[in-house]
Amino acid sequence: MNAVVSACNILAATSGLRQQGWWAGDNIVCGDLLGALRSELIELVEQERFERAGIGRETDYLLDSDIRSDRIYWLNRERPMQRRLLDRMEELRLDLNRELFLGLFEFEGHLAHYPPGAFYRRHYDSFRGAANRIVSVVIYLNETWQPGDGGELVLYQPDSDEEIIRVQPRAGTMALFMSEEIPHEVLPARTHRASIAGWFRLNNSIAGHIDPPR
Ligand code: OGA
Ligand code: MN
Repeated sequence: MNAVVSACNILAATSGLRQQGWWAGDNIVCGDLLGALRSELIELVEQERFERAGIGRETDYLLDSDIRSDRIYWLNRERPMQRRLLDRMEELRLDLNRELFLGLFEFEGHLAHYPPGAFYRRHYDSFRGAANRIVSVVIYLNETWQPGDGGELVLYQPDSDEEIIRVQPRAGTMALFMSEEIPHEVLPARTHRASIAGWFRLNNSIAGHIDPPR
């Protein structure tokens, strides 16, 4: 299987995004790539290459462990397995643009490690008007995850406590949602939780100002 999301799933995913603002599916990334990314994540964590994740952007960038306590490593093209994943995200970006006319310009994403006890409280990935992150994607790498291990992703109805869905962070599951519309939360993990979180963005770089800086 070459595409990250198969042709029939792309139609389900794009109609889900269009009609309800989210979609979740299973077995969408081929197993060997997921396994390789999971091994790489463990290796990078052991080498202490992960950093504390922040919230907000640029001038209002904060490290706030009351809000999130995962650790991250930005995906890059230097590493072959990450490059393979980024190539697939590129295909997905083109599929989303073709089906939804979103004009998505680029993808950015990171590996995320939630040690036992780590969480990410309810938040939006982007705020209306800021128009930076348009579609959020999360891919899970946890081959042995089982109920009781925690770390579920909860999607909520906009401006409400009503839950839409709890996504189990099992290897091969992918969730897509509109970044400005869907508040969401990562429940506390009880075992090590590995994921990839990313965003399809518009081109926000103006007059030499590259957004966001890293
Ligand atoms: C994020 C996020 C969800 C997840 O990193 O912004 O919401 O399930 N991640 O890892
Ligand atoms: Mn998020």
